[in-house]
Amino acid sequence: MPEKFYITTPIYYVNDVPHIGHAYTTVAADVMARYQRLLGRDVYFLTGTDEHGQKVEKTAAAKGVTCQEFADSVAPRFRELCGALGASNDGFIRTTEPRHKEAVQRMFTLLQEKGAIYKGEYEDWYCVPCESFWTELQLNGGKCPDCGRDVDKLKEESYFFKLSEYGDRLAEKIESGELVIMPESRKNEILSFVRSGLRDLSVSRTSFTWGIPVPGDERHVIYVWLDALTNYLSALGWPDETGDYAKYWPADTHVIGKDILRFHAVYWPAFLMAAGLPLPKRIFSHGWWTKDGEKMSKSRGNVVDPFAVVADLDELGLGADAFRYFLLREVPFGLDGDFSKDAMVTRINTDLANDLGNLHFRTINMIEKYLDGEIPALEGRELPTVLAGNAEGGSYDACWEFHGLYESFRARMDEMAFSEALQAVWRLISEANRLIDHTAPWALAKSDKPEDRRKLVEVLGVSAQVLKASSVLLHPFMPVKTQAIYGQLGHADSLDAFTLTNSNRYFMYDPGQRIVRGPAPFPRIETDKIRAKKAAAEAAASGKPAPVSKVSVGRDAPGAPEVKKASPSPQPSPARGEGAKASSAPAPDSDARIKIDDFMKVDLRVGRVLEAERVPKSDKLIKMRIDIGAEVRQIVGGIGKSFGPEELVGRTVVVVANLRPAKLMGIESQGMVLAAGEPDTLMLAGFDADVLPGTKVK
Ligand code: MSP
Repeated sequence: MPEKFYITTPIYYVNDVPHIGHAYTTVAADVMARYQRLLGRDVYFLTGTDEHGQKVEKTAAAKGVTCQEFADSVAPRFRELCGALGASNDGFIRTTEPRHKEAVQRMFTLLQEKGAIYKGEYEDWYCVPCESFWTELQLNGGKCPDCGRDVDKLKEESYFFKLSEYGDRLAEKIESGELVIMPESRKNEILSFVRSGLRDLSVSRTSFTWGIPVPGDERHVIYVWLDALTNYLSALGWPDETGDYAKYWPADTHVIGKDILRFHAVYWPAFLMAAGLPLPKRIFSHGWWTKDGEKMSKSRGNVVDPFAVVADLDELGLGADAFRYFLLREVPFGLDGDFSKDAMVTRINTDLANDLGNLHFRTINMIEKYLDGEIPALEGRELPTVLAGNAEGGSYDACWEFHGLYESFRARMDEMAFSEALQAVWRLISEANRLIDHTAPWALAKSDKPEDRRKLVEVLGVSAQVLKASSVLLHPFMPVKTQAIYGQLGHADSLDAFTLTNSNRYFMYDPGQRIVRGPAPFPRIETDKIRAKKAAAEAAASGKPAPVSKVSVGRDAPGAPEVKKASPSPQPSPARGEGAKASSAPAPDSDARIKIDDFMKVDLRVGRVLEAERVPKSDKLIKMRIDIGAEVRQIVGGIGKSFGPEELVGRTVVVVANLRPAKLMGIESQGMVLAAGEPDTLMLAGFDADVLPGTKVK
């Protein structure tokens, strides 16, 4: 029998539309659920909607609909959010469902039977939006300490839960680790709150009606948090203690935001203790997102709509996976973070399009081109020569050490340190890219020497294994894209059913496995193009001419004289002065010599080739996108007889950055790449160590 794993998100208030905060909790819980499935566990992943309370009652009244009608109109949006984000939830609970109402009423009577609830009178400060009572001392300048809004003095008959009796036992359980609260700082916060003394808690209300009635005393509705928290049980069929409840309770992890920690880490365990039910094992409280440095709120109008973000990314061919990756990579889980589109684009372009995208592109293309599409089977070989001994540019052993990676990845994932777990995989990806850079398979492929052939097979075999390892380990984060990469490595099975055990064997290939070519999984986001397109669309809508965009500047400049400079056959490197063309170099004392000032006019920059493709109907021209630090240039070069696109992607080159744009076969070229030699034996000018793109060459 596989071990079980029960994970939950908070149930979301229908009083709000889905925003990035909801998306964050759902994505994090989903990644954990998928990771646990990858480990072979029997997972139950629950989410849902919280539909009772005074706020819902007020909103529904304002809209002139019944509370149920209002809840029915909003709840489906949260279900749709799960779909849009690729969440793999097994259950979805709504607190207005009969199964939930029954469970909440049973919880209430159970607590009464156990002597944990008594009737009394309540008088305190009440914050309507937060649905919380506060003592005089807790108020912040007379306002609600949570939201800063006005509070009202309320006195009402109420049922109370004897929370004050559970402080010591609760502190013990938290201290002993029986109930884990993460991160550590949050645990300490809760412990000091508990130790400062707990007051009994009002668990019913008579001031509104939209809730679950107290059994036998229907003037009271059950406190919304007692109602809401019970969803974690009702979704499993409790009070029936067989079936899913028997299988999955207690929860292994409740994922929540920091604002609702107290309800989960104090009230919820106390209710369960009083009811004689087992406590959840772990509560993880994550941080909050702001938008461009500001708190998100409806009134500011800066709430990030996850549907819109996913739709934009879908249009770019990236989908929800890129959003999921960004959310969990950008900010260490547990800390607050700031959302901006620029940060998201940079993250996607750097990590996904460049690093992982390059490894994918080069591996697939080179295996197809040099090994006839067959993935090398390295098992049984001695430690590949490319990995043994050749320490140039970093430890190649790291590529081979899947076992070490797996251990550190697991350790990070187990503690929900998602960003760090991703970094561990990225170290491997970078290592593999470096291995390709340094062994230059495109050069090995041209050699007749047997040891070069062996090296070629090994480096591409290792690249394929790293790509496979990455697609498996990253599957919980990016379920769609990793499946696509895995499929291109010739696997027909679903990664959803893949079970990882502690073995390197998983990343090995048997002979005969073949590449199945497919589209690039992570197209680069061209912000310039998007802006230009948007401006054009806006202009079209307003009937005004489109403003000249950054991308289109000079593009169609008629008769631009620079065509010659951006010639498909780059000039030989003046520094080398080799070959036939070099012989036509001016004599040293000729008047044609230039002054240093003239040379300095040429802006030479280090560039890194991000993408490369052949220009249709040309055997010479290659269109590249080259990162030159401050921007990405499209450059068309006449190097196609010497290089294939897969040999160029990831290469560091020298770019003439201040050439006027010119058109080659109708395609704009915004610079020139330096190379030397004849068209079919060209060598690219480069560096003997890594240099950052954008660095000036002088
Ligand atoms: N209904 C209660 C939970 C009951 S669970 C038994 C609730 N709902 S909520 O819709 O207001 O919030 C749900 C989750 O979204 C919480 O975990 C909250 O922390 C999270 N977020 C809301 N805004 C957020 C951000 N701006 N950033 C990150 N998460 C935030 O609370």
